Amino acid sequence: MSLAGKKIILGVSGSIAAYKAALIVRGLVKAGAEVKVLMTRAATDFISPLTLATLSKNDVTTSVHDGESWNNHVELGLWADAMLISPATATTLGKMASAICDNAIVAVYLSARCPVFFAPAMDLDMWAHPATQRNVELLKAYGNHLIDVGDGELASGLSGAGRLAEPEDILQILSDHFADPGAAAGADGRVGAQEIGKGLSVNAEPAPQTDQLPQDLAGKRILITAGPTYEDLDPVRYLGNRSTGRMGIALADAATQRGARVDLVLGPTTLSATEEGVNVIPVRTAREMHAASVALWHKADAAVLAAAVADYRPRSTATQKIKKKDGPLRLELVRNPDIAAELGEDKKAHQRLVGFALETDNGIENARRKLSSKHLDFIVLNSPSEEGTGFGHTTNRVQFVTKEDVQDFELKPKTEVATDILNALVELL
Ligand code: CTP
Repeated sequence: MSLAGKKIILGVSGSIAAYKAALIVRGLVKAGAEVKVLMTRAATDFISPLTLATLSKNDVTTSVHDGESWNNHVELGLWADAMLISPATATTLGKMASAICDNAIVAVYLSARCPVFFAPAMDLDMWAHPATQRNVELLKAYGNHLIDVGDGELASGLSGAGRLAEPEDILQILSDHFADPGAAAGADGRVGAQEIGKGLSVNAEPAPQTDQLPQDLAGKRILITAGPTYEDLDPVRYLGNRSTGRMGIALADAATQRGARVDLVLGPTTLSATEEGVNVIPVRTAREMHAASVALWHKADAAVLAAAVADYRPRSTATQKIKKKDGPLRLELVRNPDIAAELGEDKKAHQRLVGFALETDNGIENARRKLSSKHLDFIVLNSPSEEGTGFGHTTNRVQFVTKEDVQDFELKPKTEVATDILNALVELL
């Protein structure tokens, strides 16, 4: 176990499976971790705080303020190397997904900068409900790691999906995370007991040899957006674009090989990262990409925004398939959030922001306008008119545009363009 000396916050919410928290605390402490437990009021109906305090050898927090004194959730959030919410009830998942901060677990969760793992437990219909599933997807999109539910007998007497993962599997997932921090989640942000022992790999392809590459991004965390976004019109149709995500995926692989911790917020695509360490957060819409990127930006040293984000979405998504009628169909579109502009607005002195631009005319002039309006450090400019460049191609010819300079590059594979971009980024970091 790679848990010795690790600081773990365990959040326990009110499910019958709360009793298993005792086994988790005991396992963590036995493995040499330091554990601080937070409980919701409902959890105290299922297991006594005294039990968990005794096993963890630390006080248990059940409220943001206990009478006179205020429990510093920010401090606790910064203290931890990992946070585990187990069991996570439907209510707790909903509160975490919506930032409803009325208990100590959600307060610490919202302040935490460490990786967060959540292990749901509930009855099968509660688990299958679209509202629960939407919250799980949102939490994954925010970069949290789902420890998948098990299948079997439930407290209700029914049988199906919804059981808390076994404590020894949860301990193993945490231990694996510390053994290889980049590999906590699979391509879908999900870790599960079934994956233990197989290595939590994102892809079947072997990772390229990295020992000859400079580790000049070691210790840096980089957020990358890639791929298209799909804006749904109805249950079967969407507005999208031809981006494949190839450029952003190449960047994510290359940055990982150079030692960075990479969060890849990836729109719908058939391509995937080859490096196991890339933390992939799959998203569909611009708003999901926006939510995930904003949530990850404060943890990042740099972001490279390679996604082709839809600027507009339908004002509403029909719940039923839109039927054809005589005459034209009018679609009303509304603006999507501009992720680059928002991250730029919120950029701290140490952070670097790189954007892409696809311009058909007045490329450099337009790129410079974007550079300053979005507070970017440089723009990778490509022109769609040239053979072998842009969407769907494996090659690209780009220019790097800064306030002062323009640097021209040859037509080359996107993997090499990724190297050029990271070289320029390393200079800035
Ligand atoms: N971008 C973003 N969020 C958006 C739109 C764009 O993060 N909603 C990012 C892209 O990932 C890219 C850069 O901003 O890095 C592109 O800038 P943008 O002004 O949106 O480019 P175009 O869509 O080509 O702009 P315009 O229509 O103004 O030419």
